[in-house]
Amino acid sequence: MSTLGVDLVEEILALKKARNAVILAHNYQVKEIQEVADFVGDSLGLSIQASTTKADVIAFCGVHFMSETAKILNPSKKVILPDLDAGCSLSDSCPAEDLAAYLARNADKNYYVIAYINCSAGVKALSDVICTSGNAVRIVNRAPADRNILFVPDQNLGQWVIEQTGRPMELWKGSCYVHVEFTRQSIQKIREEYPEAPVVAHPECTMAVRLLADEVCSTERMISYCKNHPAHAFIIVTESGMLHRLRREMPEKTFIPGPTDVCACADCRYMKRNTLEKLRDALASLEPSIELPEALRARAEIPMRRMLEWSA
Ligand code: 13P
Ligand code: SF4
Repeated sequence: MSTLGVDLVEEILALKKARNAVILAHNYQVKEIQEVADFVGDSLGLSIQASTTKADVIAFCGVHFMSETAKILNPSKKVILPDLDAGCSLSDSCPAEDLAAYLARNADKNYYVIAYINCSAGVKALSDVICTSGNAVRIVNRAPADRNILFVPDQNLGQWVIEQTGRPMELWKGSCYVHVEFTRQSIQKIREEYPEAPVVAHPECTMAVRLLADEVCSTERMISYCKNHPAHAFIIVTESGMLHRLRREMPEKTFIPGPTDVCACADCRYMKRNTLEKLRDALASLEPSIELPEALRARAEIPMRRMLEWSA
């Protein structure tokens, strides 16, 4: 790292101490942020960390819904996100007003709403329980057997959970713009190039891609799967930041980025908005911070707590 980079890291560590802050980073964050973080993980691990931290300030290096989730669980703490424009296409595909209107139009179905954590606080507040890719099967298996389930917002994850649980669910038609770029052809081609390498894919990928995978799992489970598998090389079908985490934890193994039809650079433009400079500035000014109307936050906390209880 450049002298400038080292200075920046030192500044961040000093500010972190002065603020009594914890730095949480998602597996898709850039290498430099992952390296300065106290905890790097998937949405489930990050939610658990956010629910148990003793810090006064949570510097959340991820996307908006993730830092909002930390605020839902910690109303009295300061939650900062280095770049407020770090959104999520999947979350955007289910506006709370649209969900509320859908539920009102279909009141006779008395839906049990299961929301993937990639959604706004407004959507969480309309839901019965939240899930992540790491616990979706377990959560859906615990949903009341006599209720119709509406699963929002990711149709691909929802479809995968139906396959795993056998539980019928109605699916909101949302998707992640990064994961739907992987195609059957692009993954088939790389599989033929590296026939010995297991294909590990995120459940936000389309069914055509998931059917080619040896393992479909959350980003955190990708770590344990690759650690415990005897293979030396793996094809990783998810956002590019994951490769850094995998290479850092298993320097002796080879991780091949799953390509799309046009490149091998599946970057989430939202995740990549956070930088070390923005993290330093956010720790210095405690801005941008996440604020939520209390009634909304309190309603959104109910399904979040249910998720944490059901995944314990
Ligand atoms: P994970 O919870 O598996 O890390 O997934 C989060 C996400 O945003 C995937 O696109
Ligand atoms: Fe959202 Fe997709 Fe980015 Fe994950 S990778 S944060 S689902 S846009």
